[in-house]
Amino acid sequence: MTPFIHPWGQLELQRWPRRRNETLQAWDNADLYLLNTLAERGLSGSEATKTANTLVLNDQQGALALALQQSASPGDASVESSGDSFMALAGAQANGEDNGLTTATPFLWPFDPPGQTPDQIVMRVPKSVALLEWQLHWLSQHIPQGVPVWLAGMDKHLPRQLVPLLQRYLGNGHAEYGWKKARLFSAQAPGQVLAETGYPSMVEAKDWQLTVHAGVFAQQQLDIGARFFLEHLPQALPAGARVADLGCGNGVIGLAALQASPGIEMTFCDESWLALESARDNASRYCPDAQCRFHHGDGLAGLENDFDCILLNPPFHDGHVVGDHVARRLFNQAARALAPGGELRVIGNRHLDYHKVLSRRFGSVAVLGSNAKFVVWRCQQPLT
Ligand SMILES: C[S@@+](CC[C@H](N)C(=O)[O-])C[C@H]1O[C@@H](n2cnc3c(N)ncnc32)[C@H](O)[C@@H]1O
Repeated sequence: MTPFIHPWGQLELQRWPRRRNETLQAWDNADLYLLNTLAERGLSGSEATKTANTLVLNDQQGALALALQQSASPGDASVESSGDSFMALAGAQANGEDNGLTTATPFLWPFDPPGQTPDQIVMRVPKSVALLEWQLHWLSQHIPQGVPVWLAGMDKHLPRQLVPLLQRYLGNGHAEYGWKKARLFSAQAPGQVLAETGYPSMVEAKDWQLTVHAGVFAQQQLDIGARFFLEHLPQALPAGARVADLGCGNGVIGLAALQASPGIEMTFCDESWLALESARDNASRYCPDAQCRFHHGDGLAGLENDFDCILLNPPFHDGHVVGDHVARRLFNQAARALAPGGELRVIGNRHLDYHKVLSRRFGSVAVLGSNAKFVVWRCQQPLT
């Protein structure tokens, strides 16, 4: 693990959840560039920094908020953090504890207003342009005029239209020099809403118009994997069956299962707050009488282990990192969370060949359907 040496100290940061032989670093040069710039040119550079209130958006594993906490005089300055991802928050909390930072950074979920008026905004550019737009709009709505806004990201991850988006939502903003493949942008809050976003978007699925909040998977149209999965969902599950829509996104899979078997108890799970909010909106509109609950967390972690059926269209990336490690973790969780005789029904891209991975974890694995791109499996646990 390379220590994260920043202008105010040093942090040992790890990605969360912790994995044996982790090869990915928990911070990058965009974090460091942002903090170095704040130290030289931002409020954090002067003595004023020690009393500045900073709002951090989209911190990844706590690199920004924890470093800023180390910069601040206790009691005088405050750092608040805001984002959509449960995993990012859990990572920041775990790293805070590991580094002996005993005061937890207050955290705001996307619809919360800021707890206190910030003197500066420090933001990692999110992967989703929709979420970026939505957050810039949120800044224009909630942050007083003239508050400096600093944004950073790695060159390879930045959207081309970033400066035009800053202009559109904040009325100003420009790119700064690049540094070690990272880039910085600066702007100021306009103190008023200058442009509306198109979010949430509405997506057609079956006979529904689904609400999809900014940044949620399949923002503009139903995912083609989800479309195929809808043809292979369980029909007529018994009343009272406990079913989970794991990684629910807008909730389309769980809603379809509820439509087929109205008496089931559905748990919608996602690590994205805005995904869960989309599923909540859609369930209340299309299944108002159904027994639904909503779990914001790492998959099924924290829930009781007695599901009769788990439905999963798994993620194939973790932020900007493409891979099947999140899917595998969710398979493991599902294998543990199923009641005896329960089933995981899962769709995967054909080339990912989940069959072997699933066979190692479940009593029996059968293909229920396939096409040129996708395969749907039923994975059952033994009855005893
Ligand atoms: C491929 S999308 C599927 C969304 C939806 N079920 C559909 O079919 O359109 C995967 C979803 O898993 C969520 N996800 C990723 N990692 C997760 C985790 N550790 N725990 C819970 N959900 C997660 C993502 O936020 C995303 O909504």
